[in-house]
Amino acid sequence: MSKPHENEHNPHGPTARKEMSRRQFLSYTLGGASAFMIGGAALPMVRFAVDPLLQKKTDSDYVKVVEVSKLTAEPQEFNFEVLQVDGWYESKPTMTAWICKDEKGILALSPTCKHLGCTVSWNNNEKFKDQYFCPCHGAHYTKEGKQLAVARAPLDEYKVKVSEDGFVYLGSKQSNTRVQ
Ligand code: FES
Repeated sequence: MSKPHENEHNPHGPTARKEMSRRQFLSYTLGGASAFMIGGAALPMVRFAVDPLLQKKTDSDYVKVVEVSKLTAEPQEFNFEVLQVDGWYESKPTMTAWICKDEKGILALSPTCKHLGCTVSWNNNEKFKDQYFCPCHGAHYTKEGKQLAVARAPLDEYKVKVSEDGFVYLGSKQSNTRVQ
């Protein structure tokens, strides 16, 4: 009668050492090497894919538009180009701002109507003197961008900075800070 294995009835006894077969060794080694190479190739691709999301917005997002000395109490239309990065696609669309200067400072309004997005202009309708008017559905706004009809919100404004040498720089759009 053969002797039972010494660990068979003693689960707490020393465990028998299991040898790794040549096949297992090869498959572990090849698997590890493949994972390493795939990881090495994939990392730059992942980095490339998320790169635009990692870019921080900086002060350079402000664009030089006009000399402060050229501004008046009457809003004037100014065009400027901004660098837009959409994922990996870069473009330079032309933007418009209506800028005026008063006792509260410099106000740069966006011409995008807050009704359905048409373009407003200053003093372009004799019925609405000294107002912004939208030709699409008749929305009109005060000089500070307060909505008077049709639209439900005031015109947006651009962030404004003035440089030491007297130039107006415009940044991103934000909700109107003067009126609601
Ligand atoms: S889009 Fe301006 S009034 Fe409708």
